[in-house]
Amino acid sequence: MKDESQLSWDASWKQVETTILERDVWLLTDYIKRDYLMERLPGNARALEVGCGSAKLAALVAERGARVTGVDLSWHALLAAQRNFDAVKVSGALGQADAFHLPFADETFDAVFSTGLLEHFQDPTPIVVEMARVIRSGGIFFSDVAPLKFSILRMGMYLRGMARNVTDEYPYNGREIAAWLEAAVLRDIRIVASGVVPPLGLVRRFPTFRDWSFRHQNLWTRWDGTPLAEQLGFFYLAWAVK
Ligand SMILES: C[S@@+](CC[C@H](N)C(=O)[O-])C[C@H]1O[C@@H](n2cnc3c(N)ncnc32)[C@H](O)[C@@H]1O
Repeated sequence: MKDESQLSWDASWKQVETTILERDVWLLTDYIKRDYLMERLPGNARALEVGCGSAKLAALVAERGARVTGVDLSWHALLAAQRNFDAVKVSGALGQADAFHLPFADETFDAVFSTGLLEHFQDPTPIVVEMARVIRSGGIFFSDVAPLKFSILRMGMYLRGMARNVTDEYPYNGREIAAWLEAAVLRDIRIVASGVVPPLGLVRRFPTFRDWSFRHQNLWTRWDGTPLAEQLGFFYLAWAVK
């Protein structure tokens, strides 16, 4: 039987018809994550995205030569993921699976990553432990965590008071995120405040500004790891070695 979370993710993915080719601020953040991840990924890596949703990051990583697998609870998410793979002409394995019980043997992948997943759980530690289980020794763990906090990206949401009604995101900080990775016995843990990017609406409304924002990706990442990113950034980036 489908649980409540699966039904609600299914319902939201059912409405999504866009692909990776339609640039918005989410794609800009995925480019930022792709570049950080690719710095650490061996060529031709076997990489798994957990809770892949529309698998934009997996598609971007596959474009750079990784052999990707994506898993998600929601079938409708997997349809969106396939559309994104098709849009950038990459292939990858997609399947339905629960992040708490991944259907892979220990040490299957060179890298395991997620984006937009961990902040939805009151205690994501069991998911991080499960992700770590399927990473080979010496392989890479990579995730963003977008806590419930103020950011330039979510400015409009805060001004409208909507953040007060969000019930499935938690206000995590970098220290708490590091503790999940420590519990999974990962090493060389790095947590960096990031995601100082323009507000969602501004990028959608003004295509010239959007194109300029994509062209100047370095302008957004130059703040990473600074107090400004702690205050105004949308997410933390977390990576570690198994
Ligand atoms: C915010 S979305 C991820 C968005 C994705 N990064 C993208 O680019 O489209 C979070 C995803 O996690 C999935 N999810 C939630 N709980 C899960 C679980 N227990 N196991 C696997 N996937 C899960 C949801 O179905 C949803 O697709």
